[in-house]
Amino acid sequence: MPFIPAAQPRPRFGLGLRRPHYQDFLSGGVPVDFVEVISENFMVAGGRPREILRRVRADYPVALHGVSMSVGSADGLRGDYLARLRALVDEIQPCIVSDHLCWTRYGAHNSHDLLPLPYTAETLDVVCTNIARAQDALGRRMLIENPSSYVAFSHDEMSEWDFLAAVVARSGCGLLLDVNNIHVSAVNHGFSAADYLAAMPYEAVEQIHLAGHAQGRHGLIDTHDQAVPDPVWALLRLALARAPYAAVMIERDDNIPPLPELLAELDVARAIAMEELASCA
Ligand SMILES: [Fe+2]
Repeated sequence: MPFIPAAQPRPRFGLGLRRPHYQDFLSGGVPVDFVEVISENFMVAGGRPREILRRVRADYPVALHGVSMSVGSADGLRGDYLARLRALVDEIQPCIVSDHLCWTRYGAHNSHDLLPLPYTAETLDVVCTNIARAQDALGRRMLIENPSSYVAFSHDEMSEWDFLAAVVARSGCGLLLDVNNIHVSAVNHGFSAADYLAAMPYEAVEQIHLAGHAQGRHGLIDTHDQAVPDPVWALLRLALARAPYAAVMIERDDNIPPLPELLAELDVARAIAMEELASCA
């Protein structure tokens, strides 16, 4: 798979575009460099959601973040899904197109969950074949995000970080590093988040996600309903030390606060990035 460059340079600090903040963004002047949207919410040709995205795009670069491509599906990607995503890409001209390292669908059934993959050579073939097809269909490089997980497979042949590095090397995709997901999985599985971060191919890291999580009965749950907690800020600092120009955004999908609260969190990310850049100089 040849390297397909991103369509345009990535902007730095962004927020998710969520319904309670539509009016803020439509009014313009929100101090972010880009917004990220869930691709599937806008993959219909007409209607109000697409019209809102079109208007927001007039003022802000947009990152398209998918949750249903299902790059881990053994029966391949759906052509109709790729065609609808390509149409959205062509219209919106996003700064980033991403999806997750997971599977969500088999046949016609979509689970609407980001389900875990066994990290084996066989799965690696499936994932790389699917990403190659997606990148060909979209005409551009896409980013793959590390998942949060709650179970592991007894027949795993490699760690998640080695699997991700192999996906990048073989498919030419970029990485969306979700440092909250790394923390959640590290706590749930008992591995070192620092070891995970140390193994990432940073030349491929184009974006970093921040989020909060909740304590469940059996471990941490990736809920996106809390402020970014201290352990996740610490991982952001480690990641930015190695990928100082990656785009950074905060995912907040539930218990969504007023926009100024999220902007204040984004300022914390900016400050950490400035400190890491200064320490590199
Ligand atoms: Fe994420």
